[in-house]
This record gives sequence, structure tokens and C-alpha cells, in this order.
Amino acid sequence: MRKIIIAGNWKMNKDASETSKFCSELGTYLKKHDNERVLPLIAPVFPFLSQAQGILRSLPVAVAAQDVSSHAEGAFTGEVSAAQLCSLEVRHCIIGHSERRQYHGETDALIREKLLRLLENGIIPIVCIGETLQQREQGRTEQVIISQLEGCFDQITIAAGDQIVIAYEPVWAIGTGKTATSGQAQEVHALIRNWLQTSYGSQAAADIHILYGGSVKPDNIRELLEQKDIDGGLIGGASLKIDSFCTMIGLACELSSAGGN
Ligand code: 13P
Repeated sequence: MRKIIIAGNWKMNKDASETSKFCSELGTYLKKHDNERVLPLIAPVFPFLSQAQGILRSLPVAVAAQDVSSHAEGAFTGEVSAAQLCSLEVRHCIIGHSERRQYHGETDALIREKLLRLLENGIIPIVCIGETLQQREQGRTEQVIISQLEGCFDQITIAAGDQIVIAYEPVWAIGTGKTATSGQAQEVHALIRNWLQTSYGSQAAADIHILYGGSVKPDNIRELLEQKDIDGGLIGGASLKIDSFCTMIGLACELSSAGGN
């Protein structure tokens, strides 16, 4: 059965002491609010991954990376490999975020290479896809989503649904305060699950978590999580404040015990 994943993508925010403070406070919260059907996850910047892991060790929370190199090892200044993340016991890694596509020219083919490096190292990729406002207004959302899925997963074998996570993040909803309506989000999530079913079979499709991202906050997360195919949130701005992050974990715990999702 799928859990609810409440994932904070910190992007390029928080220094060493802010990271420690947040993790200590999160640890205190999670000691009192452990729920096996909810997985909180934070993604700090590379330099603070092990610090966050140290503070949160043995607590029910995942510490993820925000990106990984498409190369296995060698002369690639500034890059971090999947094997290096694996040696830190990092178990999740975001790839293909729209900010990487937009500002660093990442293509589906490159994201596919990153996906392979992660799978080779037993790390769960959180693969981000999503359409721009222009593409939505042109009625091309479905075509764009399918083409991103086909590009990122071209000839990739998935043995079980717990090996990957997909995040649907409409570009026009990221950092804009404009959330997709729960209906709009559910429609695309159903499309993604349908594609997964055709590509990887019913069992894998039923087990794969599909997160929604784009201006998720305590005020709108409940309605999103109530949708059948939305298994959590990939949250930017609202994940940076401990109170709002914990509020969203709390809401997910409530929904999971009410039999929601
Ligand atoms: P916001 O929640 O700030 O819109 O960011 C979403 C996002 O990009 C998460 O990866």
C-alpha cells in the first residue's frame, strides 16, 4: 500500500546552522508523531546531507539529495555521483526538476542517464515532470507529460514500484502561489498512473508514488492529498518553515488514519 510522502525540496536555501536547527526541531516533532503510513522527507543541499542525516538518524524521515551527476565517476568538477550518495546512505534523490531543466539545460535524455546511475546504486529517483503555462494554454499538457515520461524512462526496466517516485510539478505553479486545482492535478496524476500501467504493469503502477508539487502549503495540501492518485507533495517554499512543514506532516497523518488517500 502506498504511503503519503511529504517531501521538502529546500532548493538553495539554509546554511549549516539553519539546517541543524530545522532538523533538531523536526526530530523533536517526529518523536511524538511517528506514523508508518506517512514518510516525511527533506532535501537539503549536498554539503549538509550528512549533518542532517546525523541529527535525524533512527527517526522515520528520509534525507534526499536534490540532484546527481549523470556520470559514474571521474573528472567532472563540481559533480556528485550516485555512488558517493550511496556511500552516505542517501536513499532518495530528486532529478529533472524544472529549475534544472530551465536554468541548466537538462533534457529528458540527460535525466534518463541520471535515473540509470541512481538505479544502479539502489537510490530511489524522484523524477520531476510538468508542463509550462504556454504548453497548458495550448492544450498540450498530456502530450508534454507523456513525452517526458517516454524520454526519461526510455528502455528503463522497473522491477518493483518502490524503486521510483514521480513528481508532477506544473512549471506555472512552482513558486508562483498558483496551485493546480485538485481536479487538474488528479487528472494528470491519473494520466501518469495509466502510462505506468501500460509500461510497467498493474502492480508496479499501483505501488509507484506520484507526488504533486507547485505552491503546496498547509492551506491546500488536504484537498490535494484527498485525490485518488496523489500520494504526497514535493514542497518548496512551505517546507522551509518548521511549523508549516510539521503542519503538513500532521495533516497527512490525520488523513492516513482516517483511511484517506
Ligand atoms: P513551491 O512549493 O515553492 O512552489 O516549489 C515547488 C517545487 O519546486 C518543489 O520541488
